[in-house]
Amino acid sequence: MFPLERPRRWRRTPALRRLVAETSLEPRHLVLPVFVREGASEPVPIASMPGVVQHDLDSLRRAAVAAVDAGIGGLMLFGVPERRDARGSGGADPDGILNVALRALAEEVGDATVLMADTCLDEFTDHGHCGLLTPDGVVDNDATLEAYGEMAVAQAEAGAHVVGPSGMMDGQVEVIRQALDAAGHEQTAVLAYSAKYTSAFYGPFRDAVESQLTGDRNTYQQDPANGREALREVRLDLAEGADAVMVKPAMSYLDVVRQVAEISEVPVAAYQVSGEYAMVEAAVANGWLDRRRTVLETLTSVRRAGADLVLTYWAVEAAQWLRPSS
Ligand code: PBG
Repeated sequence: MFPLERPRRWRRTPALRRLVAETSLEPRHLVLPVFVREGASEPVPIASMPGVVQHDLDSLRRAAVAAVDAGIGGLMLFGVPERRDARGSGGADPDGILNVALRALAEEVGDATVLMADTCLDEFTDHGHCGLLTPDGVVDNDATLEAYGEMAVAQAEAGAHVVGPSGMMDGQVEVIRQALDAAGHEQTAVLAYSAKYTSAFYGPFRDAVESQLTGDRNTYQQDPANGREALREVRLDLAEGADAVMVKPAMSYLDVVRQVAEISEVPVAAYQVSGEYAMVEAAVANGWLDRRRTVLETLTSVRRAGADLVLTYWAVEAAQWLRPSS
């Protein structure tokens, strides 16, 4: 009889396929990034991210309750301030929008979900860079570290369970860890954006946070050409005390996710970024892709590559699709 090997035996019925599925995708694996806009009195749509909004504080609370109901893993908060300055001082200000929003959500949902905050200055600086600038306009690594430490402490104080340094400064995890510990927040976890690439796929996000950036981030974010360098970044972050490491973006970097998963002793996250969302939504709007199948396939592929957690703008919707009844 030919052929001897028949892999199709396991594909014959839904039950057979379910039995041998290697990768699972569950609501708890998904983290929803959310934007909150200072001074907003209603949600403001983001043109390049159809279906995603800048929240006002009330709609943010409702979104958090919906996230809890959907059983997703957590929320990652980004702030859109009304005023910006050269030092990004709104980030560490307890009355800055991100910290106000964290307090609102800590009050609204408490420990029912995991509250994470983006620990980066770019939303708060008038030049749009992730760090402080020298007089010549270069991002000053070490001066920035101090600002990150203060921001992380403010976020922990406002109720973040997890802080997420995303600025790709050398030494950021260690400085943040020390600052948190010194302020009595030794239980606040650090999710390090360890391998964050300089990517065209962040385009819609920059609309979402009304980024003031005119240049690029090539002196601090990683070159898309480099894979080995990502492992170096991960090793450094682990040595500095990262509680979880992240690769970002996801879909064009699945090889990196895989390699990081192989060496990491802590949970691995991957961030399916704004451009990945926009790309699929645009094709769906044209009738070119099936929305639900495409979204679930992208998320499954990120899990298959080795990510424990996936940050995705589809988190709540995907979680609803993943319910046994639907
Ligand atoms: C920086 C930050 C960025 C994103 C998350 N954190 C943008 C950037 O580096 O320019 C992008 C997220 C996305 O595109 O969805 N604080």
